[in-house]
Amino acid sequence: MTNRKEIHDRVLNATSKEELATAYGEWAEHYDKDLIDEMGYVAPVIASQLLQGYVSDLSARILDAGCGTGLVGEDLHQKGYSNLEGFDYSAQMLARAKDKEVYNRLHQGDLTGRLDLADNSYAAIISVGTFTCGHVGPEAFGELIRITKPGGYLCFTVRDQAWEEDNYRVAMDKIEDIGAWKRVEEKTTAYIQQDGSSCNVCIYQKGV
Ligand SMILES: C[S@@+](CC[C@H](N)C(=O)[O-])C[C@H]1O[C@@H](n2cnc3c(N)ncnc32)[C@H](O)[C@@H]1O
Repeated sequence: MTNRKEIHDRVLNATSKEELATAYGEWAEHYDKDLIDEMGYVAPVIASQLLQGYVSDLSARILDAGCGTGLVGEDLHQKGYSNLEGFDYSAQMLARAKDKEVYNRLHQGDLTGRLDLADNSYAAIISVGTFTCGHVGPEAFGELIRITKPGGYLCFTVRDQAWEEDNYRVAMDKIEDIGAWKRVEEKTTAYIQQDGSSCNVCIYQKGV
């Protein structure tokens, strides 16, 4: 039986990718139940709803970056989106995502490095719960922008603590200053209800 709090602390405090991957590997089986039923993890549905307001084409090719077990894909699929792909570091989390049968393709890789995906491929990227402490930082935006189509959308959450620690505002404004993307909408919302955490959920549009 998973000790929910212990494993959640381990993923937030991991000091290496290997440690993080091991923790997610152990959590994968109970992840949905722990986070959704017990902890009130609302960020996937909030971000998915925000993206839906900008992407009306249900056949748009969308990449769920850091898809985990597929909570975001599940919500988008339920709303009729049919061209979804997932990307994650953890084989065990990807196996759970595969079981949901909502993604056309799943990719295993590291979002902090060069992505083995072509330029200008996706109408939208969505990333929930992945820009957070000890996971992925603002250095990953460059590659995600590269693989987004000109005029496409990037929707992501940044957990409150990471937002300050990793200077997201400065990093995101620098990207806007060079015209690579522009801010479309941003709001602070609940993240995990039980621990009172919040996140910023943001939508940016790639320059054309
Ligand atoms: C909190 S989970 C979020 C999963 C899903 N988006 C959700 O909202 O339930 C974070 C996910 O990011 C993945 N992850 C962490 N660091 C990563 C990296 N460098 N590259 C790819 N995936 C990573 C983890 O394996 C995990 O599945």
